[in-house]
Amino acid sequence: MGILSGRTAIVTGAASGIGRAIALRLGKEGAWIAVVDLDENGARAVVKEIESGGGSGGAFKADVTDFGAVQGCVQQIETARGAVDVLVNNAGWDLILPFSEMTEDFWNKVIAINYKGPVHFSRAVVDGMIRNKKGKIISISSDAGRVGSSGESVYAGCKAAIIGLSKTLARELARHQITVNVVCPGPTDTPFLKRVTGGEMGAKVIDAMIKATPLRRLAKPEDIAGAVVYFASPDADFVTGQVLSVSGGLTMAG
Ligand SMILES: NC(=O)c1ccc[n+]([C@@H]2O[C@H](COP(=O)([O-])OP(=O)(O)OC[C@H]3O[C@@H](n4cnc5c(N)ncnc54)[C@H](O)[C@@H]3O)[C@@H](O)[C@H]2O)c1
Repeated sequence: MGILSGRTAIVTGAASGIGRAIALRLGKEGAWIAVVDLDENGARAVVKEIESGGGSGGAFKADVTDFGAVQGCVQQIETARGAVDVLVNNAGWDLILPFSEMTEDFWNKVIAINYKGPVHFSRAVVDGMIRNKKGKIISISSDAGRVGSSGESVYAGCKAAIIGLSKTLARELARHQITVNVVCPGPTDTPFLKRVTGGEMGAKVIDAMIKATPLRRLAKPEDIAGAVVYFASPDADFVTGQVLSVSGGLTMAG
């Protein structure tokens, strides 16, 4: 019996990287996992991995930027499983670009995925959580949202916005026994990091990130999953509105 046995959890962007590791770990802890992603084949492959580890779940194709699609996806999950116990807002996207080179199309896409996505999924699950008088919402922000990150201005703004959203939801929803917390990864070894640090400067950028990190390595997706499991577990029932960096000491909050 895992610590999350019998729970239903949604993980967005779970076909790859950090989301995949979160889905696999929550599955190991006994939760039934809705693996949500734009990449349907990738989501199915993660469900197979969960099943081969002894867990269970289902794959759902949804674009986090489309509120109608998100509502439809949550309805399907609630019909199959009852209320959602745990929502992990993880889907994210960015490219490194100086602010002076950004276009309106670019920032609209960054805002839609990184900020509207968590708003959409949180709004879609919250009615069921209120009815159920419990729930845990965990959003993946970034150390970029706490301290800034050159070349990631609008993305960092969205990640800071996730923190403000989560602290406010934590206050509003506490009376329903719903907790809302944030995990901020530092640079983490995933396809996202390879993409944003691509090109000839990529290796140098990663090297500089590692040198700036007291624990002298990139995060592994599994490091982030451990923090998410804590916030999802009964051990964190009295913890809400909190922001936890998992970044080898790269940033240290006051
Ligand atoms: N990797 C890092 O260094 C790092 C650092 C800090 C924060 N983060 C954050 O962690 C989260 C996961 O990042 P990752 O590194 O695992 O990225 P990744 O690119 O490996 O995976 C992201 C997943 O999100 C999915 N996705 C993208 N847009 C979507 C949409 N509109 N609807 C549904 N799914 C969508 C992708 O298909 C992909 O499977 C993101 O929120 C990212 O901002 C990552």
